[in-house]
Amino acid sequence: MNTVTTPYRRGPEADFLVIGSGIAGLRAAIELSRLGQVLIVTKGSRFQSNSMYAQGGVAVALQADDDVHLHFSDTIRAGHQLGREDAARILVEEGPARIQELIAWGAKFDKIGGQFAFATEGAHSRSRVLRARGDATGHEIIRVLLERARQQSNIRWFDRHFTRDLLVVDGRCYGAIVVNEITRDVQTLPATCVLLTTGGAGQMYARTTNMDNATGDGMAMAYRAGAVLEDMEFVQFHPTALYLPSSPPCLLSEAMRGEGGILRNRKGEVFLPRYHPAAELAPRDIVARAIWSEMVLTRSRHVYLDVTHLGKDFITTRFPTIYQTCLRFDIDITEEWIPVSPSAHYCMGGVKAGIDGETTLPGLLVAGEVACNGVHGANRLASNSLLEGLVFGCRVARSAAALSGGFSRTYLNSLVPRVVTEPVGTLEDSEKLRNSLRRLMWENVGLVRTGDSLVQALAWLVRWDRHIQGTLQMRSDLEVKNMIQVARCVTEAALWRENSLGAHYREDFPTCTGPAWKTHSQIRRAPPSEATPLASPQAG
Ligand code: SIN
Repeated sequence: MNTVTTPYRRGPEADFLVIGSGIAGLRAAIELSRLGQVLIVTKGSRFQSNSMYAQGGVAVALQADDDVHLHFSDTIRAGHQLGREDAARILVEEGPARIQELIAWGAKFDKIGGQFAFATEGAHSRSRVLRARGDATGHEIIRVLLERARQQSNIRWFDRHFTRDLLVVDGRCYGAIVVNEITRDVQTLPATCVLLTTGGAGQMYARTTNMDNATGDGMAMAYRAGAVLEDMEFVQFHPTALYLPSSPPCLLSEAMRGEGGILRNRKGEVFLPRYHPAAELAPRDIVARAIWSEMVLTRSRHVYLDVTHLGKDFITTRFPTIYQTCLRFDIDITEEWIPVSPSAHYCMGGVKAGIDGETTLPGLLVAGEVACNGVHGANRLASNSLLEGLVFGCRVARSAAALSGGFSRTYLNSLVPRVVTEPVGTLEDSEKLRNSLRRLMWENVGLVRTGDSLVQALAWLVRWDRHIQGTLQMRSDLEVKNMIQVARCVTEAALWRENSLGAHYREDFPTCTGPAWKTHSQIRRAPPSEATPLASPQAG
């Protein structure tokens, strides 16, 4: 590492720092703006969140034949009973109000004959998924939230700033240290409380449906700051991402199977009824593993998703974005089967949180995919993530209100000089390291894991983790560092869990046995730098 020294400066003042600008961050910022000054810090631009690209929709019990209790039991069942019931109950009970509010703010969900159109997705006992412009639901929700945030005079933005670390003084979080992505200028942002809404870490896998920016930044910085991470072994693999050697694995919404799409193996055979009675509408973890098995059995790198029987008019109006995307890769989905394979999609684990976003680090709150409040258990129910962002993003204001009193601006500002200025370095092999990490995680810590594959992965990750120690300042370097640290936590947790449950499948422990299966894995960075998985028996 080549080293130079950079001084810190103090950035704009705020009561609440929201890091991340996806659905949870925006909803939280709107709520927090009632309590004080909010500063939203985001890497890249505010228009680049993962939430923006959510296709399928948002699950909510608003249909006449539906009920929050049914949504609750579907959520818990899909999560293999590992989910925390209090969190799941809050999700389904507060969800309808959050959606009605969004509609009042201008969100336009699709209707049929004047009534909202509710779609079917896997493992839901009712059709309860609202969508917008067919398959552009995330875009519509973010549009409305951005507009609402723009109307709040208490909300300000700090775009193109990468949060390098949390500012922790005497065991409490008081802000963050950010780097300007263009000038590389480092600034400290003191605040009475920090909310992390940075999303997931799908980019640590070679195949992922996630945007380039899903690099586990929030999980990694919370871990470095001493917060507990929970259930990190549970990474959801979406069953159907476009498989073309020359294209990124774009998501093909679960809603395509909900509308009647069928999966076929390389020989053209329908196979899911052999794996689960609900066939194409089985929970995601089951469908993804069934695809994997068929790929192995037929020695193929993919299976096919067949929607040709749904008809051209229906396909092009119901899935306009997917239709156009595939056409760009020369696949007309109205006439051809689509090559698909599973891809990393969603982290059920994350920074351990209570139902109001509180973490084990005082002053730090979390919401959305970066958080683990246990709502998804071992496998997230389809289309529950947008709802989670809205519900828990809004609730976080309760904890923030309790945290906000008692610190004067003078006191907060006085904390800044206590941050020690360190020498700054650059990684010379950042791109190579990123690619090696993504391949390693895909091959060794993917959909199917073994003790041997995990041990081997861990040895590499420990080595890489040592290599990236020190203060970095370039966004690409910092992302690699974050991904390596999150990958290490996932691998340690996967090694620790010697059974198979939901999205975590160990070939050497294929069943879910033993009295401790309901235990949540927890990891906290123990001084000086070794990760320590802790077992704490906490029933569902
Ligand atoms: C999809 O449309 O299949 C993705 C939505 C989700 O992850 O719930």
